[in-house]
Amino acid sequence: MLTFRSISALTKYLEKFSDAEAKIGFVPTMGSLHDGHISLIDKSIKKSSITVVSIFLNPTQFNDNKDLQEYPVDHEADFRILKEYDNQLVLFVPETKEIYGDSIETKKYSFSGLDMYMEGSSRGNHFNGVITVVEKLFEIVKPDYAFFGEKDFQQLRIVESFVKAKSLNIEIIRCETKRSYDGLALSSRNKKLNNSSKKIASNLYKALRFARDNFDKLEISEIVSSIEKKFHKISEISLEYFLIADESKLHPTNQKYDGVKYRAFIAAKINNIRLIDNINLN
Ligand code: PAF
Repeated sequence: MLTFRSISALTKYLEKFSDAEAKIGFVPTMGSLHDGHISLIDKSIKKSSITVVSIFLNPTQFNDNKDLQEYPVDHEADFRILKEYDNQLVLFVPETKEIYGDSIETKKYSFSGLDMYMEGSSRGNHFNGVITVVEKLFEIVKPDYAFFGEKDFQQLRIVESFVKAKSLNIEIIRCETKRSYDGLALSSRNKKLNNSSKKIASNLYKALRFARDNFDKLEISEIVSSIEKKFHKISEISLEYFLIADESKLHPTNQKYDGVKYRAFIAAKINNIRLIDNINLN
């Protein structure tokens, strides 16, 4: 597996794949790889001539410096996982300076309301930070395909709309959320949960399943209030939001309309570890 730390070395290598038939697949990550990332990488390898995996802990998408400092980092373990892929992928692990130069600046974007709720309202400048780095990485890698997990569905929708607005020739491939046996969505942040917190965290998935199983039977407001009541009784979880929104605009709603796709979204803290998850309802 080739590893690149500089933009110039990576772009020079990728020139080999610049003809029309060769396809570059891209899996951007912040490291601390788990089976969710692996499934994105496997999809990319199947579909592309070469896969680029980036590991870059992007400072501009953290609104809380403590959260950034405490984000799980384990490059050794990541390299061990990726090495197994041999020459099917290349790894890009830049330093912050390589990506941002001397000033770490966040660009401002308009996301046409996709960032109005959920992570957009809870985490300040988060999506401006995400798209600042995604835009830079897309310019460097020039992928034909980029793979994003549905676990961060709002991020996925914002990336899709950014690519469309900029008319970039990149196909965004949606990848299903990977879960552990009890439904907990795989996430790098799970590494910070101990076993008992993991058990408690599975309540997030139970809430999403309740919403899916009852979507046709109950009013949205009944689903939401039932979940809120349930979480009120679990002292170890602090529920930040549970809501149902349409998949395309991501606006919370209490109404169901025919032909519209809906998702349930949840964010909660367990022992101060913030987790998010979502599920499709119809
Ligand atoms: O989903 C992530 O891991 C990050 O938000 C991304 C897309 C790699 C940008 O830093």
